[in-house]
Amino acid sequence: MVKAVVLGASGGIGQPLSLLLKASPLVDDLALYDVVNSPGVAADLSHISSPAKVTGYLPKDDGLKNTLEGADVVVIPAGIPRKPGMTRDDLFKINAGIVRDLITGVAEHCPRAFILVISNPVNSTVPIAAEILKAHNVFDPSRLFGVTTLDVVRASTFVAEITGEDSRNIVVPVVGGHSGDTIVPLLSLTKASVSIPTDKRDGLVNRIQFGGDEVVKAKDGAGSATLSMAFAGYRFVVPRPGHWQMLTTTNAIGGEKGIVEPSYVYLPGVPGGDEIAKAVGIDFFAVPVELGPNGVEKATNPLGSVNEDEKKLLEVAIKGLKTNIDKACKMKIPFE
Ligand code: NAD
Ligand code: LMR
Repeated sequence: MVKAVVLGASGGIGQPLSLLLKASPLVDDLALYDVVNSPGVAADLSHISSPAKVTGYLPKDDGLKNTLEGADVVVIPAGIPRKPGMTRDDLFKINAGIVRDLITGVAEHCPRAFILVISNPVNSTVPIAAEILKAHNVFDPSRLFGVTTLDVVRASTFVAEITGEDSRNIVVPVVGGHSGDTIVPLLSLTKASVSIPTDKRDGLVNRIQFGGDEVVKAKDGAGSATLSMAFAGYRFVVPRPGHWQMLTTTNAIGGEKGIVEPSYVYLPGVPGGDEIAKAVGIDFFAVPVELGPNGVEKATNPLGSVNEDEKKLLEVAIKGLKTNIDKACKMKIPFE
């Protein structure tokens, strides 16, 4: 039996993500939580003829506890989105508090669940989540993921637009963080090998780094990416009894045995992560991770084989990430 939870289920990401999870035959139990409308979203989804039992909870009547108990995977898209002119960091004050409270619930009611943080700024909300879990003595770095999959999805799409390939056959390792120039697409390591004209390369890197702004601008005040994020969130992890299967073609194309995709993780705490943490000089960083039933089985280090341009991008990203991580770790966290 696999129980998936969406916290922030009534929102722009939460609703389509919950729909995809409800449609998946791999989910047996789907619990939805939000401060508004979650019983309505759950009632609507419950009419879909797929196996998952759907329940919706509000904060009243121990709603968060009832949502989380027994959860195997908790996806968190709760929080406010950007408007034009804002950075993701501008969301810190409000979303940090929301993530703190929700992660406290996870620590108390389902500490062994896989936790997928979507709420922005991911560069800071994941370190906040780690601090809360540590304070409750339940931090397992192999089970905490900052969801950066949308950057990977965008990279495949935008590369394919230039090369004319099928985007499903293109896998770009995107490392670093999830905001502007902290996002580092390692185009030189793209699989299958693609040829990107030199005059298009800088524009392509910039588009992957600032793809979120493109959507924020087009939505003109009505929020940020929701549908592509729901796709990416669903693709990142779909539970299978005793295992975690990406709904991506990554494995087949790369010929890899494991399930590998970049995620923003606490490097010193995951197998293979220590060496990467030393190389980048910070503790949180997105790298391709291999997943297994206990979470991260191995963090892989693609940084040794990057080219000179990518080295420069990495330097900028590390500087920005350091600021974002320090800000999160300095936050005073009330627990009572
Ligand atoms: P939205 O406003 O449409 O939905 C957010 C939902 O969270 C709302 O339904 C709201 O009621 C709910 N919520 C607020 N406080 C809550 C709480 N304490 N407990 C439970 N639910 C709560 O926003 P959205 O477009 O769905 O975006 C959500 C977040 O995801 C934003 O922070 C956005 O920046 C981020 N995001 C991240 C990525 C990524 O790649 N990681 C991509 C897109 C958006
Ligand atoms: C994205 O990359 O689309 C999200 O992080 C939302 C945003 O604020 O751009």
